[in-house]
Amino acid sequence: MSVRVAPLPLSPETIAAAGARLAADGLVAFPTETVYGLGGDATSDRAVARIYAAKERPGFNPLIAHVATRDAAEREAFFDPNARRLADAFWPGPLTLVLPRRPDGRVCALARAGLESVALRAPAHEGARALIAAAGRPIAAPSANRSGRVSPTAARHVADDLGDRIDMILDGGPTRVGVESTIVACLGGAPRLLRPGGVPREAIEGAVGARLAAAPDAGSAIVAPGMLASHYAPRAILRLDAVSLKDGETGLDFGGRLGAELDLSATGDVEEAAANLFAFLHRLDAAGASRVAVAPIPATGLGEAIRDRLARAAAPKP
Ligand code: TXA
Ligand code: MG
Repeated sequence: MSVRVAPLPLSPETIAAAGARLAADGLVAFPTETVYGLGGDATSDRAVARIYAAKERPGFNPLIAHVATRDAAEREAFFDPNARRLADAFWPGPLTLVLPRRPDGRVCALARAGLESVALRAPAHEGARALIAAAGRPIAAPSANRSGRVSPTAARHVADDLGDRIDMILDGGPTRVGVESTIVACLGGAPRLLRPGGVPREAIEGAVGARLAAAPDAGSAIVAPGMLASHYAPRAILRLDAVSLKDGETGLDFGGRLGAELDLSATGDVEEAAANLFAFLHRLDAAGASRVAVAPIPATGLGEAIRDRLARAAAPKP
């Protein structure tokens, strides 16, 4: 495809048209409360193959299947008591559960990268929910960026990165949370945190009444095949936990620590910082920044997800 699609505002009409596209193996980018997703029919090998191709994503990295309802999720996977508690507490919302798949589940093997588990998320965004309902099936949706690049938090980011490779982009404005969903595996035994994200670890631990096992090291664990070390990579070289600017560096500030122009949150609010993070990384790229000093971000609340994404953005590129 070489036609560049323009984002269309979310409306009942564009949602109905996008649902029909999805049901016909089309690719539709759509807003969620976390980041924009690149949606395709999770039950169709053909649609899922198109997602991997558009993103240039390695086939060993499984996708999240998005559902509109808890019932739809229960048709795909087995929920243990912790999974039930977490779904009760945080769905719809920025939480993904990795669960044992049901043998009669519809999410195809390609979307699961052949695993016997399936990643499920019921997003809170009303437009996303309406789209999934209109498609009438689980929707596989990785972040709508080429593999290894910064995740999109605005329709414009998607258009710039993937606009010539997909069928439709729905524009719902900037995303509210700004970092991807928290991923928790409930595969028997204690729940494990596979990726920090939009629901803070503290809230998850409160709901299950126990501490979570730490996220596995980047790149090492088969349980989270997508957690490659270098990810969310802007073009610039990042220096983290900087307390002052060196010559030639552009500052990415937090709480005014560096006195830099670009501040993730001047008041030191990690939720505001999460919502700004990817848009600011996109902006630094657009401005041609080559070296970026990032102020220290606290590791509590959404700060854990921000620090995780920054560490990946700073990792050496393959
Ligand atoms: O907020 C989000 O989660 C966004 C929006 C669009 O919903 N989606 C997203 O998807 O971040 P993606 O594909 O970029 O990240 C999916 C992550 C990957 O790290 C993948 O390895 C992991 O989920 N994953 C998927 N299925 C898995 C499974 N069965 N076991 C372990 N990890 C799994
Ligand atoms: Mg991604």
